Amino acid sequence: MSAIGMGCMGFTHAYGTCPDEREGVRLVHKAFELGCNFFDTAEMYSYFGNEEFVGKALKELPRDQVIISDKFWPEKLPGHHFPEDKLSEAGIRKTLEGQLQRLGTDYIDLYTEHQMRDGNEEEVAHVMGKLIKEGKIRAWGQSSPKADQILKANAVTPITAIQSEYSMMARQWESDVLPLCRELGIGFVAFSPMANGFLSARYTAQSEFKGDDLRTVISRFDKENMRRNQPIIDLINRYASEKGCTPAQISLAWDLMAYEQLVPIPGMRREERVVENLGAADVELTQEEYQALTTELDKLTIYGDRTGLNKLASVPESTRDQGDVYKK
Ligand SMILES: NC(=O)c1ccc[n+]([C@@H]2O[C@H](COP(=O)([O-])OP(=O)(O)OC[C@H]3O[C@@H](n4cnc5c(N)ncnc54)[C@H](OP(=O)(O)O)[C@@H]3O)[C@@H](O)[C@H]2O)c1
Repeated sequence: MSAIGMGCMGFTHAYGTCPDEREGVRLVHKAFELGCNFFDTAEMYSYFGNEEFVGKALKELPRDQVIISDKFWPEKLPGHHFPEDKLSEAGIRKTLEGQLQRLGTDYIDLYTEHQMRDGNEEEVAHVMGKLIKEGKIRAWGQSSPKADQILKANAVTPITAIQSEYSMMARQWESDVLPLCRELGIGFVAFSPMANGFLSARYTAQSEFKGDDLRTVISRFDKENMRRNQPIIDLINRYASEKGCTPAQISLAWDLMAYEQLVPIPGMRREERVVENLGAADVELTQEEYQALTTELDKLTIYGDRTGLNKLASVPESTRDQGDVYKK
């Protein structure tokens, strides 16, 4: 597995105007050419449309050289017509069949329960064990689980990776989930590793986000919060100029140091960003630099996060799905 993966959500969803399909496919191929082999999607993104896109993009690549990470949503989505509980064995099997079809493959490498709900961790884990034995999935995971949910499920069918938000601005899992992953040898796929782009230091309070771009409602992009978060940008800029790399690369290099089994999956929709972000794997932060950077980070207050509930109503329903926070 490559050190850094590609989050494919933004090719059809979430950040305003998307590149056209041909360009998106070209960028996926570019990432593969540069050594990236891990591609993340979900049935929730654009309600099945993102999986279709990823299926098209991966069609021309050797199947055994790419790792497909796909996620199933715990509740029925528009267009779903089946009576059973989505998380029952029948519900999961039916969901998976649709996903395999859209992806144009007969197995998914990493199959993740998207934004966990409480109560049926063991049952879902049991179904995952069956699907692994049947070869329909190679491994499974949970997205944004609490520590006790990991423990319950992992006791039934060992979990390969957790997928949760992690970046210099979102470190909430450091107290329990990350240590638990270390203890149990579970991988950690870090989504929104660049805090929706904020940590690239390329956005300012003057940046305009248009249409259904979620950054119109995400609270860390609130203009006042952006101003208040300037110290983190100053910090990354300083390290970037010392290391001779870009701020985006510093933020990803910092992620990579957090845990040796952590794989960040930035979203990137321009060739120069694909090159830049994947290039972060070559930026070496020493243990001393990482500790010093973390110590400075610990002193900063972070304003806002990926939620934006107060203004949520202004975003069309089909694009609200980044996860749990938008559902509350
Ligand atoms: N499990 C979950 O609940 C969950 C939730 C959210 C996301 N995810 C997964 O995680 C992936 C990544 O999440 P994310 O898209 O929020 O990640 P992110 O990398 O933190 O944010 C992506 C945004 O940052 C911008 N960006 C990325 N690299 C940049 C650079 N070098 N310079 C300037 N701007 C840059 C992109 O800009 P452009 O738009 O201009 O390219 C994009 O809008 C998603 O694709 C999805 O697969 C999972």
